[in-house]
Amino acid sequence: MRVVVTGGAGFLGSRLIEALLTGGGLPGKGAVESILSFDRVACPVKDPRVESRIGSIDDPDCVAAALSGEVDVVYHLAAVLSGQSEAEFETGLHINVDATRLLLEACRKLPRPPRFILTSSLAVFGGPMPEVVPETLAPMPQSSYGVGKAIGELLVCEYSRKGFVDGIVCRLPTIAVRPGKPNSAASSFVSGIIREPLNGEDSACPVPLDTRLWISSPETAIANLVLAGGIEGARLGINRVLNLPGITVTAAEMLDSLTRLAGQAARDRVALTSDPKVIDIVCSWPGAFDVARPVALGFVADTAFDAVVRQYMDGLPRQIPKGMDTGASTAV
Ligand SMILES: NC(=O)c1ccc[n+]([C@@H]2O[C@H](COP(=O)([O-])OP(=O)(O)OC[C@H]3O[C@@H](n4cnc5c(N)ncnc54)[C@H](O)[C@@H]3O)[C@@H](O)[C@H]2O)c1
Repeated sequence: MRVVVTGGAGFLGSRLIEALLTGGGLPGKGAVESILSFDRVACPVKDPRVESRIGSIDDPDCVAAALSGEVDVVYHLAAVLSGQSEAEFETGLHINVDATRLLLEACRKLPRPPRFILTSSLAVFGGPMPEVVPETLAPMPQSSYGVGKAIGELLVCEYSRKGFVDGIVCRLPTIAVRPGKPNSAASSFVSGIIREPLNGEDSACPVPLDTRLWISSPETAIANLVLAGGIEGARLGINRVLNLPGITVTAAEMLDSLTRLAGQAARDRVALTSDPKVIDIVCSWPGAFDVARPVALGFVADTAFDAVVRQYMDGLPRQIPKGMDTGASTAV
């Protein structure tokens, strides 16, 4: 099986590539023989089965070269994230919408329609919302990032309806704890308020403490993306869009976890501030979802935020949780 991962050098892309190589391949589809990482920077995964192609997804020649011949699965992760999309309107829509269409058009020309997975986001939602977002809630994004993702979702659904791709949209929760440096996502602080104190650095929480966040650990998000690559399209019916499972935590509960696991000195490194730009975006996002359908399909959530923090503290293990390759689910 041949897999293409756009954004294969990124945080989730590189972990996804490792999981595809080490976790027994895609459920129901078997081992992955080769993976093309298509990114503006080199893929850090060193494996003879991985080819790192450096280029931009808005370059028609690069796209045509990356998506040619036998391609079974395309994971489309490359994107302009929320903070940058808001600050650079044209860039955000160009990469998140125009380049997504370019990729879908290239897929349309392949000998067989590939599985096409778009990593979307809960940022497609906004405006008035119930406490728990049902599967049927109409997107009403309140950010350029959310709008770009929502348009991308519709494109994937339409190309699937036409039979050009076998698409699945995975609306990911906010992924924490992300290692490394802060990034251009408006939600960057969600990882920062845990990661920085654990690394002995100061951090700031720019949203009110009662802000609810819908969270997944990297390990769980990757396990769910692997499952999405293998799941039978017929099991999803006409609704190809999934709100992936997560856990609901408030900013206060996250800081309580930090105190429990790392002590008061770590907690004291987080200043409580207020950033209207971050609040406008992050506080427009839902804090809880009805995930009965994805759970029935085998998608999983973390058990508790303490476990998410421990995962980071333990050095971020990157194995697929037991049971995922059989489609088994765990309680949400
Ligand atoms: N991390 C999260 O919390 C989260 C939550 C919801 C959705 N998502 C989505 O998941 C995907 C991956 O997110 P991530 O956190 O790994 O982000 P990331 O920034 O770490 O990775 C994105 C990768 O895309 C690449 N890229 C950007 N523009 C490109 C272009 N024009 N051509 C080729 N490559 C390009 C970047 O170089 C980078 O390696 C994105 O689509 C993002 O919107 C992430």
